[in-house]
Amino acid sequence: MNNKVRLGIVGLGARGMGLLELVYLQHPDVDFPVVCDIYEDRCKAAADLVEKSDRPRPDMVQDYKEILGRDDIQGVILCTSWEHHIDLCIEFMEAGKYVGCEVGGAHSVRDCWRLVEAYERTKVPVMLLENCVYGRNEMMIAHMAKQGVLGRVVHCEGGYRHDLREEIAFGKENRHYRLLNYIHRNGENYPTHELGPIARILNINRGNRMVSLTSVASKAFGMKEYIKEYKADDTELMNTEFAQGDVVTTIITCANGETITLTLDTTLPRYYSRGFYIQGTKGMYCEDNDSLFLEGEEHAKDHFEWKKHWGNVEEYREKYEHPVWKKYLDEGVKAGHDGMDWLVFCDFVESVKNKTEVPIDVYDMAAWMCITTLSEESVAMGGHPVAIPDFTNGAWLKRK
Ligand SMILES: NC(=O)c1ccc[n+]([C@@H]2O[C@H](COP(=O)([O-])OP(=O)(O)OC[C@H]3O[C@@H](n4cnc5c(N)ncnc54)[C@H](O)[C@@H]3O)[C@@H](O)[C@H]2O)c1
Repeated sequence: MNNKVRLGIVGLGARGMGLLELVYLQHPDVDFPVVCDIYEDRCKAAADLVEKSDRPRPDMVQDYKEILGRDDIQGVILCTSWEHHIDLCIEFMEAGKYVGCEVGGAHSVRDCWRLVEAYERTKVPVMLLENCVYGRNEMMIAHMAKQGVLGRVVHCEGGYRHDLREEIAFGKENRHYRLLNYIHRNGENYPTHELGPIARILNINRGNRMVSLTSVASKAFGMKEYIKEYKADDTELMNTEFAQGDVVTTIITCANGETITLTLDTTLPRYYSRGFYIQGTKGMYCEDNDSLFLEGEEHAKDHFEWKKHWGNVEEYREKYEHPVWKKYLDEGVKAGHDGMDWLVFCDFVESVKNKTEVPIDVYDMAAWMCITTLSEESVAMGGHPVAIPDFTNGAWLKRK
């Protein structure tokens, strides 16, 4: 056996296959001895890809339990659908395998506690593969915030604003999990892309924590209208009511006094945006017009005529680019969501290789994922505030 990191991959749908081809198989130090999906055709397609990359053809299994006892595997990547993430994480941790888990929200607070307890029992690290924490702008703004350029950060916003109507409506044809979730659930179902980078800036679980949230949902018309227009021959869907509101707004409060607004906006026509917005006592950043407003700078005199400064982030690149991205740009940015998929994967691989803790750990994962189930609760109660548990059990006060 060579010195490469050996990983299994479970879940070979759109995300799993895309990552395997564009990101994972580009990593020279990683082998994939086994691929797994409940669908045989997806296993075969993944095995073909691995073989094409000049690696040995992997074993194909349809039951992930067959991977648990394999001692030729140090870790697994889970690209399964949301409802399987936590159970699978726990089983693989119990089996001593590092876990890199794709993003999604939790179905219950109890599940989040089970995940934390599994880590505390086994000490096997699990990493939420939240690629957006590694986004170029997200990292640059975090770097600026750390240096105090924005002053004391007071309020942050973010969103998952992505028109997914086609993906949801054709869920049956594509064997995709989102459709059922949109029919039956109503809440902030995908919080971590925006919350992850914000949590980093606000030091959540490291001197700060999220305390409470309130969540409201708009009416649900987007999917109905879309199906009427583009899928009217599907009588079952034509007669289906969708529970998921078109726009879900969540407001989170933090122990250190900051507020966070999250917006889930996935069933109306719109441009893609993570709506990243950070506001402090000395300035602000806004993703949607790609601008920085910094008190004391010449541009700050134009606050009424701001449009002319849209895009001014580029003027600050040289000075504030995050060192990780400076190096990455020099080396050549890889494919996969503007390069961030590669960075998150490399960090996971380094942790497995060196047997160290992972940078997005179980406490982050539980705190970020629980927002989904708590938001569902709050929406169901007309926006009633709900408490966010402290999964660190007090350790956040001193954690670095
Ligand atoms: N980070 C990102 O930018 C990003 C982008 C897209 C999707 N995702 C995440 O990736 C995950 C997968 O998304 P997708 O779009 O590929 O979904 P998908 O439905 O296309 O694929 C999921 C796959 O997992 C398989 N699967 C489910 N349960 C399984 C089990 N118990 N054992 C083996 N295989 C199982 C399914 O058969 C399916 O092939 C989700 O969590 C999603 O949120 C992340």
